[in-house]
Amino acid sequence: MLTISYVSRPSIPSLRRTRVLDDIRAVSIARNSQLGITGLLIVTAMYFAQVLEGPEDAVDDVMKSILADPRHHEIVVVRRDIANRRRFPLWRMARFEHETFADASLSPLLAELHTKRGGAALRRFDRLLDDIRRSRCEPSA
Ligand SMILES: Cc1cc2nc3c(=O)[nH]c(=O)nc-3n(C[C@H](O)[C@H](O)[C@H](O)COP(=O)(O)O)c2cc1C
Repeated sequence: MLTISYVSRPSIPSLRRTRVLDDIRAVSIARNSQLGITGLLIVTAMYFAQVLEGPEDAVDDVMKSILADPRHHEIVVVRRDIANRRRFPLWRMARFEHETFADASLSPLLAELHTKRGGAALRRFDRLLDDIRRSRCEPSA
């Protein structure tokens, strides 16, 4: 089981944002279901942060598409791990908008991960993922 986490910068005109995010979600749910991929996508005004987990070849294939996708840029892979179990077994690609779990520390944390990739930021990111998983937020997928 491979897990990849990355942070990137959206390149979506604000007027098209809802539509584009819906398109990404529809494709993700279809393709991830077919390939056995789960994970989550965090969306803020400035950043995307995504965790993808699943069979190694499948995650690598989807990641290739994601890296080539013009709807975002400055894609920084912050973690690539082999794990023996899934963290988000039920989420084909749950999307969390910043507003859903309003947390003032989120944007600075993503900025830090994006620019420094440091261990401390990664540990805080892990805690955030645990909080999201445990929270009452309904995953959107
Ligand atoms: C931020 C972001 C996250 C994405 N997440 C996924 C995903 O989890 N699964 C997926 O199949 N495609 C995802 N996509 C879409 C892919 O980049 C790609 O458009 C889609 O998989 C179709 O692949 P193809 O363009 O190689 O045909 C994402 C795109 C963006 C911009």
